[in-house]
Amino acid sequence: MIDDGLQFPPGFQFGTATAAYQIEGAVAEDGRGPSIWDTFSHTPGAVRGGDTGDVACDSYHRYAEDVRLMTGLGVGAYRFSISWPRVLPSGAGTVNQAGLDYYKRLVDALRETGIEPAPTLFHWDLPQPLQDAGGWLARDTAARFADYAAVVAEGLGDRVGRWITLNEPVVVTWNGHVEGSHAPGLRLGAGAFPVAHHQLLGHGLAVPALRAATPGVPVGITNNYGPVGPATPAEADVQAAAFRDALHNHLYTDPVLLARYPDPVAPLTGDTVRDGDLATIAAPIDFLGVNYYFPELVRADPDATFGSTEVEFPAPSRTAFDWPVVPAGLTETLTALRDRYGAATPPIYVTENGAAYDDAVGPDGAVHDPDRVSYLDGHLRAVRAAIDAGVDVRGYYCWSLLDNFEWAEGFSKRFGLVHVDFGTLARTPKDSYGWYRDLIAGQKPAR
Ligand code: FCB
Repeated sequence: MIDDGLQFPPGFQFGTATAAYQIEGAVAEDGRGPSIWDTFSHTPGAVRGGDTGDVACDSYHRYAEDVRLMTGLGVGAYRFSISWPRVLPSGAGTVNQAGLDYYKRLVDALRETGIEPAPTLFHWDLPQPLQDAGGWLARDTAARFADYAAVVAEGLGDRVGRWITLNEPVVVTWNGHVEGSHAPGLRLGAGAFPVAHHQLLGHGLAVPALRAATPGVPVGITNNYGPVGPATPAEADVQAAAFRDALHNHLYTDPVLLARYPDPVAPLTGDTVRDGDLATIAAPIDFLGVNYYFPELVRADPDATFGSTEVEFPAPSRTAFDWPVVPAGLTETLTALRDRYGAATPPIYVTENGAAYDDAVGPDGAVHDPDRVSYLDGHLRAVRAAIDAGVDVRGYYCWSLLDNFEWAEGFSKRFGLVHVDFGTLARTPKDSYGWYRDLIAGQKPAR
């Protein structure tokens, strides 16, 4: 019996999410070109344990098994990502039909079992040749992204259920170009602003390209969000938190929904933003994707980039990533978006939420992950609380279907509902898989 706090409105979509470089493997197969994550993961010292996505979960070959796992879960949607260098090995120009065909097979397999395909077009694996030409620092990359979006949309057509243009541009900018912990590993500090703007411009150019190729298929963008608060009530900390909030939560969403950059960011924009760009970026979207993991507390720190440093958020428990478990932060994130954007707020999908724990297959052959069950239970109740507060949330996609290549952390952080043995590639559904399946099956029919 699923209690009322976990009952969702009719039509609410339950899904799971993954990303190409994290699960596919087959990096040199069927004409795929290199991406910045191939380069980065093969750079000594860049990824924990020297792990790479060369094989990952081998989902390129095992996608049918993965679709069966999702059928067993009963999810209504699968958010996966398309590998740009699989479709356009040089980033632009010649289309690699074999790469596109892989996604056609995946989309067909999902449709056959009634699961809506919800692809993300850019989940961080930029083709290396585009990086060599300047990557997201180059304005031209925005145009290349729109061309790529058109190729994929023409190839997959309206069998796709919804398009997500970008995943977490804030992380691409911050981790990849401000502090260098992710590919392409640049440490540009405040000089990274063009990376933010060119991603947004790419999104804005892709929206009409997607609509032209697949009229009627909803288009949205996903970012990472989370409440940012001051470590103390001191004015300096309050200011530092407000700036960090603008950089994290507003910089990538104000331009899309309000056609402007937030005021605190104005000193960073330099001459990157050209006339007409903000109108392009603000092309109407059909939904907003929200990824939530944890809230942050910061204190003023004049020596730090952007003048603030994170301090530990007090929480009753933490994940294996040392992230604080704070379900109320998800309710707050969702209501804050609605409060900031008001009537301009599109319907929201929680496109990622989940937790890493040190799961292992036990002597009984099962994977007992009570911490993840409790995490998901708390965060789904938090989504329901936001709906009760009037936020139009239409879906929740659990990160992730599978344990996978967790970027700079390699295979050391397991987020899956399904355990993956990275030696044998065997998949074992965890207890949380059964919990999520029962939650979905236990939704009361519309009255
Ligand atoms: C998000 C990423 C996703 C995954 C989770 C844990 O920032 O979008 O690929 O790594 O974090």
